[in-house]
Amino acid sequence: MDRKKFLKTCGMGLIGLPFASALLTSCESIYYATSSIKNNSLIVPLSEFEIVKKNTTTYRTFVLVKTSREDFPICLYKTGDHEYTASLMKCTHRGCELNVGGGIYSCPCHGSEFDTKGGVLEGPADQDLKTFKTSIQNENIYIELS
Ligand code: FES
Repeated sequence: MDRKKFLKTCGMGLIGLPFASALLTSCESIYYATSSIKNNSLIVPLSEFEIVKKNTTTYRTFVLVKTSREDFPICLYKTGDHEYTASLMKCTHRGCELNVGGGIYSCPCHGSEFDTKGGVLEGPADQDLKTFKTSIQNENIYIELS
């Protein structure tokens, strides 16, 4: 490889590095949590947020939960030490299933974006997501279904 070609290749690599880094930090793997249902609550163990590898425990930012009561998954998002929000992953514009990543929910159909509390950030959607009240009891997160 000649000098000019080498510098061009390295330059392109350096330009791409911040983008690759941003992409990797926004890519948290999708995990469907196990849950149970009791009365009108979906129950998710807090341990579903744990990732145990060898002797190290890290924590997921969010998990998805499926329930027969809703046509779309619910995203349970950790927003604070003991705070979780639960939002239905159904876009309020025309009903596409949302993606989660980079601290937002985004719609692959027409580009709407929502924050992790279900609020609209970017249209065309003009209504917030359906959300569910959450509470913590005995090492479990309870999602109150309506
Ligand atoms: S269905 Fe989500 S933006 Fe249109």
